[in-house]
Amino acid sequence: MPTVVDGTRQRSGPGGPSIGISTKRPRLVLKIGGELLEQPQDLERIARAIAALSRRASLVVVHGGGKEIDAALAAAGIEKQQVDGLRVTDSRTLDVVVAVLAGAINTRLVAAVRRAGGKPVGLTGADAGVATMKRATPIQSVEGVSVDLGLVGAPVKNGRPQLLTDLLARSYVPIVACIGATRTGQLLNVNADTLASHLAAAIGASRLVIAGGTRGVLDDRGETIGRLTRRDAARLVKAGTANKGMVAKLEACRSALQQGVGDVVIASGRDVALETLASASASLTGCTQVVR
Ligand SMILES: Nc1ncnc2c1ncn2[C@@H]1O[C@H](COP(=O)(O)OP(=O)(O)OP(=O)(O)O)[C@@H](O)[C@H]1O
Ligand SMILES: [Mg+2]
Repeated sequence: MPTVVDGTRQRSGPGGPSIGISTKRPRLVLKIGGELLEQPQDLERIARAIAALSRRASLVVVHGGGKEIDAALAAAGIEKQQVDGLRVTDSRTLDVVVAVLAGAINTRLVAAVRRAGGKPVGLTGADAGVATMKRATPIQSVEGVSVDLGLVGAPVKNGRPQLLTDLLARSYVPIVACIGATRTGQLLNVNADTLASHLAAAIGASRLVIAGGTRGVLDDRGETIGRLTRRDAARLVKAGTANKGMVAKLEACRSALQQGVGDVVIASGRDVALETLASASASLTGCTQVVR
């Protein structure tokens, strides 16, 4: 049996010393929209896809929790406020976000991936500086208004997710809830697409897959747009064809591509076999590929 040493498979050559065969696997970040983790049948399908993908690629998973957070806020009598897909977050809202994301949803997904035969490790961006953040400065909304988002994180560029690379080297699947922390330990709410894009750049991913509830990015007739450049994406936002959560998503795509991620695939987590997307040659029919 060959043995794996530092990612290199050693085996004896015919009559000679042992030779090293590189086992370098593609690095991939998969972002799962919160609505795919609510219903048991969606959760099990996503968990199976994660377990299968992690056998083909070094995989980091980031998840959101949009609708479940909304429901928990409503139950607590806290009003929801969002601007261009980004949640305005005060301290009461942050408490709910942390409880739902890091508590309920993250552990539910970790357990499902374990059932599916994977090796998941549940984390938030606060663990070992995986997602060191600073408080986001006020944003200029698509409508041209300046908005202070409150306890919302913006990635610090030179953050080093050493913990993720250590886990990947041992074939674990880090499953990261979209919460970050400042260097002084203030927890911050981070949009899951923003965090996924940041981590994809930080680990040198060849692809970022963003799985959600729609069949990719839709045009004004509701048809999937097959391929977009960063410039096309900006036009869609300006025209209002892409709005709400899609604004934050396309901004995350732009940032990932600018920082060297090969491409971004935006796909439905219900209609696409996510496990096939590790390969650069995978069919991308019915999805949107965003390229530089
Ligand atoms: N052109 C568009 N094509 C597709 N979806 C769009 C478009 N414009 C706006 N949207 C909206 O963006 C939403 C996706 O963003 P949203 O933030 O709601 O979900 P998510 O990012 O998948 O989940 P989470 O926020 O839990 O991570 C879609 O459900 C749709 O309502
Ligand atoms: Mg979103």
